[in-house]
Parts: sequence; C-alpha cells; structure tokens
Amino acid sequence: CGIVGYAGARPALGIVLDGLRRLEYRGYDSAGVAVVCDDELLTEKKAGKLANLEKALAERSAADPDSAGSSPALGIAAGTTGIGHTRWATHGGPTDRNAHPHRAHGGRVAVIHNGIIENFAKLRADLEDEGVEFVSDTDTECAAHLLAGELARLRAAGEPEGPGLLATAMRQVCQRLEGAFTLLAVDADIPGAVVGARRNSPLVVGRGAGENYLASDVSAFIEHTREAVELGQDQVVLITADDIEITDFAGRPATGKDFHIDWDASAAEKGGYDYFMLKEIAEQPQAVADTLLGRLTETGEIALDEVRLTDQDLRDVDKIFIVACGTSFHAGMVAKYAIEHWTRIPCEVELASEFRYRDPVLDRSTLVVAISQSGETMDTLMALRHAKEQKARVLAICNTNGSTIPRESDAVLYTHGGPEIAVASTKAFLTQVVACYLIGLHLAQVRGIKYADEVAAVVAQLQEMPDKLRQLLDGIEPVRELARELKGAPQVLFIGRHVGFPVALEGALKLKELAYMHAEGFAAGELKHGPISLIDEGTPVICIVPSPAGRGVLHDKIVSNIQEIRARGARTIVIAEEGDSAVLPYADDLIYVPRTPTLLAPLVTTVPLQVLACEIAAARGHDVDQPRNLAKSVTVE
Ligand code: G6P
Repeated sequence: CGIVGYAGARPALGIVLDGLRRLEYRGYDSAGVAVVCDDELLTEKKAGKLANLEKALAERSAADPDSAGSSPALGIAAGTTGIGHTRWATHGGPTDRNAHPHRAHGGRVAVIHNGIIENFAKLRADLEDEGVEFVSDTDTECAAHLLAGELARLRAAGEPEGPGLLATAMRQVCQRLEGAFTLLAVDADIPGAVVGARRNSPLVVGRGAGENYLASDVSAFIEHTREAVELGQDQVVLITADDIEITDFAGRPATGKDFHIDWDASAAEKGGYDYFMLKEIAEQPQAVADTLLGRLTETGEIALDEVRLTDQDLRDVDKIFIVACGTSFHAGMVAKYAIEHWTRIPCEVELASEFRYRDPVLDRSTLVVAISQSGETMDTLMALRHAKEQKARVLAICNTNGSTIPRESDAVLYTHGGPEIAVASTKAFLTQVVACYLIGLHLAQVRGIKYADEVAAVVAQLQEMPDKLRQLLDGIEPVRELARELKGAPQVLFIGRHVGFPVALEGALKLKELAYMHAEGFAAGELKHGPISLIDEGTPVICIVPSPAGRGVLHDKIVSNIQEIRARGARTIVIAEEGDSAVLPYADDLIYVPRTPTLLAPLVTTVPLQVLACEIAAARGHDVDQPRNLAKSVTVE
C-alpha cells in the first residue's frame, strides 16, 4: 500500500493526492484521504484506482460549489493536515467500505495502514465484547478503535491536549499489535499533527520548510523537498508544521538518519511515453551505464566501495545463496551461472518466500545476496533476517536508498537504475544482473582463482552493453508488429537453455503480469519430458537461442529443440544473435539481438520480451503500468 501524510500551512488535499499518484504503483485497488479542517475530520474513500477517488472529490465540491470554507465540501480542500492511502487489499476485499482511512470515535479519529496486523481476530473480538461496532472487514479498523480508546483514556486521566497526546496514544496501540505495520493517524481534536508508526513496513519522513511529510517512499514528496529522514524499526514519529519528533514504542527519544535525495523529480514522470514501462525499457542503456559507472578502474579492477566486507571476509566465503522474489529472482538465476563460473563458489538461488521455512544450512562463511529493487519486499526481508540470525553475511543489491533491506544488510551494492514506477520490472532486472556480475567478478579478483584472468575481458564487454542496448532498441519495431499478431493467442510458451532459461521464465512472467495470458517458461531440454504436450497447431513458442560462438553445443542443442516443436505444429519465434543463419530454416519469426558473449546475453535477450509483453497488454486494452491484482512493492508475506 502507499501512504502519505502532510502537516503544514498549505491545503493538504492536493499535496496528499499528488503523493498518492506517485505511490499508486504500490497498490491501486482502492484509495482514500482524511483531512483535518478547523476541528472537523473529513474523509473520502473509493474502491478502484485513484481516479475514482478524485472523481468523488470533484463531485463533492460540485455539489456545493459556493461553499465558503466552512462546509465539508470546501473544508476538505482547505484543511492543512491530511493523510492518504492507496491500497493493495489483504484483509477484506477492495470495496468502498474496506478502503482506508478507517474512522473511530464518532468519526473524529482516522487511521490508514500498510501491512498485516496478525492478532487482529483477537483484538477485534475483544473490542466487540466492549461494544464496538465494526463497519469493515479490515484489520486496520481495530487499530482505529484502539487508538480512539487510548485517546479517550488519556484524556479521562487528565493528560494535556496537544500533538504529544496523539503520539502517546499511538505508542500504546503499537504495543498491542503483532505483525507488520505502518500506521498514520489524525485526530480532529488535535489539528496540525499527524502521527506515524512503523514495524517492518516502510515509512520515511520528508523535512520541508514550515511543513513536513510522511510517506511510504520519497517519491511521494520529492517535488516538495529533497531532505528526508530514515526511521528505524519500531518507532513512532509525530509531525507538525515545524517539528519532527521520533521515539521508540516505549517513548524513549530516537534520532532518524537524515539523507538527501538526489533523484531528479522528473525521473518519476512519464516524459512523453505512453506508459512508464516503455520509458523504463528505453532507459535501460543509461541504467546499465550508471550501474557500471565508477565501479571499474582503468586497470580493469572492480571497485565496490559500498561493500563493507573485508577482502578476508570475501575469501572466507564458501557458499553463496541468492534470495529474491519475482523478477529479481530471475536476475539471481542468471547470476548463478556467472558467479559459479568465475568464482568456483557453489551458488544457490532461492525464492525468498521459501528460504527460511526449510532451514537452510548457513554459517559465518555463507554469503547471502538479497536482491530487491524496492528494498522493502517482506519475503526478502524475512529471508535476510533469518540468514543474519544464522550468522551468515548478507549483501543487498538494491535500487532504493534508505530502504529496509539495505539498511539491515552487512553490505550493499546499489543499482543506479533511477526510480522504477511501472509495476512490471524492466530496468531493475538488467541493472540487478549487472550488479550481480560486478560482485561475481570482484569475488573472483579478491580470491585470485584461475578465472580471474577473464575479469578484464568481461569488464570490457560489460562496458559495451549500453551501446548494444541502444542499437537493439533502435530496431525494436518488428517486435511491436509481432505483438499485434500474438495478442489473441490462448497461450505463449518460452524456452531457453543455460542463462536463456531464466530469460524464458522472465519473458513468461512479464506476459502473465501484463497481458493476463497463460505463459510458461521452460528449460528447452525439459520440454520433451512433459510440457511438449501443450504444443498445438500454431502455439507460439519463443525460443531464446544462445550465441553459436563460445558454447556451440548449447546452440546446436536448442536448434534441435526448435525443430522438435516445429514438427509438432508450433509457431517458432526465435531470438538469436545477429548473423546466426543456422536458425533461419526453423524460425517462423526471427528477432536478432546484437552479438554478446553467452553470460551477458540476458542483458539483450530479455529486452524484446519486455517490449512484447508491454505491447500485447496494450493491444489487449490492459493498463500496462498497473496490472490487475499486483503491486510493485509487496510489504506483506
Ligand atoms: C512484486 C513486483 C515484481 C517484483 C517483486 C520483487 O511482486 O510485482 O515486479 O519483481 O515484487 O520486488 P523487489 O522490489 O523485491 O525487487
């Protein structure tokens, strides 16, 4: 979910809505706002995308056009304290009723929430026993009633009114909650203050002049301020126009870590493209170049200055686990081939959501590489915490400064991809692969093993990738045409071998996410052991063919696989290296990519698959940037 809070002198509504627009990628099945104006609390919430909420707000003001500030219609536009939420449903379906904010105390307290309150059933039963009536199916509503109850109790005990009261009540509530949460709350009787709390869920503070912000991530307030404060775990933060006060749940003062955001605000705009996804695909040459920048010395050494592990730590590593989810997991699968080859250290890749539940063998000499674009994925965070408990060293590959996963890791290598807004990940994948390669090469150098002499050559090849990507994107038009032809296919299959296998998985994932089509990726050699029976007359099969140079055997094997499926009626769509004429007789459609050494090939072969999925989804009339049921940053397990 996306969360925004504002306390200042300007009308809060527009600022909160703008922030929600930038956070909508975090969830978009309902949205809502609460604004405190004078001593009134005004809310509006709607199922569906933010546009539905905006429409409801427009109707509200149209219904009362000449309201002069005192009416609820203008009041909501005039209040200078506000919170807003864009939801990815967990408890309770995406309906108006379940949308946040949730109100309590006769509607005078409003709460928004991201995460899951695990003991909510018990809390709800207790509250119902006390006579509280629930109007939604959400776990959040418990927090609203608990907060209202605490505020009433504190007032009855004679505690002085003021922002501090809100923070005290929030701390009490947090002590009763189990699970993961970010909560923001306002109280009509305490205008000018927003309180926030976080446990295992993201929340950052934006420090403005005479105004302050709270948000799930900095993109929500980047147009207003570049100065941000990172919060720690289990902290409560109170903002007013002039003050930011942080404490732990017990009320002890705490200090956040100030940081400056150097993203350009325009980086989070569409900039003339129809979709963020197309823009982000087009940004890949630059994203790869930026991720390499400053990390390769003139003599071909890899310099990883953010990696706070000593060379001795790295020499001691005898096993690597890569943990990640979704597209980041596929980047990890690609990385395994390269890292094992260069370092000769056994490397396993595992879905973060499975990792800690099977009791993996970890110790001090294990290096766990956690890959996450957002740095907030709960499954990945839990996997890294498990690894740390077992004394393993954790290295994060992440695109988001100030996020939780890098903060909790022993070391971090940032991908410099810039903000990725489209839910389907593109440039993050390429930059993650590059970052993994840098780590693999660095390990090989430090350990001085026999493949270390390949390092300089690979470094030079990596530096050629931005140009190759530009060349590839310049010639991408035929892929768009192909997309129009494939848009009605009942299913699309993808096959690859070696590093082409994770590329096949990633191509299928993109198509599932965006086009809602049945799509599967297979190891080409495995096809004959089962999946080949899926092939029917005309079934499109996208075949990722490795370079004939280098690993010729691989190339020839997959050419045989292509013949096998073609003999069974498949429409073969072949992605091969420029000049590869061996595939010509078996390709119904052929997409050439620039010549690239086998290990680096995923950096080019993935790109046409991204474009294909994006264009098929658009041709089918889907929302490319915000596909149904998904969210970009999944902060629940
Ligand atoms: C979500 C997104 C995916 C993403 C995955 C991992 O499921 O929809 O696109 O690959 O999370 O995200 P992360 O931020 O950890 O890389």
